[in-house]
Amino acid sequence: MSAGLPRRVLLGVCGGIAAYKACELVRRLRERDIEVRVVMTADAGHFVGAATFQALSGQPVRASLWDAAAEAAMGHIELARWAEAIVIAPATAHLLARLAHGLADDLLTTLCLASDRPLWLAPAMNHLMWAHPATQANLATLRARGARVLGPASGAQACGETGEGRMLEPHEILEALAPPPAAVAMRGLRVLVSAGPTFEDLDPVRFLGNRSSGRMGFALAAAAAESGAAVTLVAGPVALPTPAAVARRIDVRSTPQMHAVMLEQARAADLVIAAAAVADYRPAQTSARKIKKQGGALRLELVENPDILRDLAALRPRPFLVGFAAETDALEANARAKLAAKGADMIAANTVGEGLGIETSDNALHVFWHGGEHVLARADKALLARRLLALIVERHAAREARPA
Ligand code: PMT
Repeated sequence: MSAGLPRRVLLGVCGGIAAYKACELVRRLRERDIEVRVVMTADAGHFVGAATFQALSGQPVRASLWDAAAEAAMGHIELARWAEAIVIAPATAHLLARLAHGLADDLLTTLCLASDRPLWLAPAMNHLMWAHPATQANLATLRARGARVLGPASGAQACGETGEGRMLEPHEILEALAPPPAAVAMRGLRVLVSAGPTFEDLDPVRFLGNRSSGRMGFALAAAAAESGAAVTLVAGPVALPTPAAVARRIDVRSTPQMHAVMLEQARAADLVIAAAAVADYRPAQTSARKIKKQGGALRLELVENPDILRDLAALRPRPFLVGFAAETDALEANARAKLAAKGADMIAANTVGEGLGIETSDNALHVFWHGGEHVLARADKALLARRLLALIVERHAAREARPA
């Protein structure tokens, strides 16, 4: 695929209620002058008719391997070769399972197997089907083979339940397909990202920690790496696989460990994004033995941890620094105060708690820098990471352009 949008997209549509959104996706792709050929699974026809896709794409719609007239016009191997990218939206749990196992039992799966072009999957399904270990294992297999998974988002579902499994909106899929123009500016940049929580040990079995899942930081690391940056990811204790394009991952546990690694790695970084939820305090002492119940209250003495971001700001030469601010209230005031106090170039502020920002699959950000601000609306963390990165690249370029 050339830089920018693919010019010829093969759009696979599976049988799910989100198939209606695929119509809008075809329209938006056509608006960008992208040729679209739609291939429907047998079940997709229960939700949207082929005539709709045909009218929107201006091309015949294929649904079967055994359509002699269609095969005579453009055989399925030819069709696989024609596509610069394959996008499947919606991708059902059944389709993911078939792809993961390399089945070629209908036209769409056969085309996927006969193609080495980028494969984009926009899953849509019931939240329990999404969370099922079988689906997650299939996704892991597909990701490991290079498939890019877009979403899903969480929210109200057609089945009446709420959770993760809604297909991304067509404009979000389009945005994911089109690398942000700023991506060009990331090529060759050395980017250091921190992610996840820190754990401060009390004794061999207990620790003070926080709810950070690492998703925001991992999404930023993935987005930067996919945009051509050389990324080092410093991760607190999380249960996330390393994004495929990330060159290096260093796992740490406590704030002092993260502090040491970040300061060392930052010396070889052009840009640092501090998305980790770092503990401000740690126990004054870590007991070598399990602390016994003594009856009555137990007082813990906490000492202040080093401030990683502030210490990074004191480095000379100093990388471009992007911090986060996780707030439950007074988001803007606290974020502006952190921008000044920590000496960062930008602060991405998010409201956390009660299902927001932390431990979630989506987030919303209010980004501040000296002399400006920008709101990034609520979105899946992968998409939000790309948007934030575009903003970071813009600000970084502005700093580089300034006379020293
Ligand atoms: O991991 P997820 O579940 O996806 O959740 C994402 C997130 C909510 C954790 C993330 O978006 C986020 O907000 N990360 C920063 C959390 C945090 O520690 O915020 P803070 O306001 O306490 O700290 C401000 C900044 O200073 C942060 O960039 C932090 O990394 C940094 N810091 C904080 C304390 C410290 N001792 N050293 C630091 O460098």
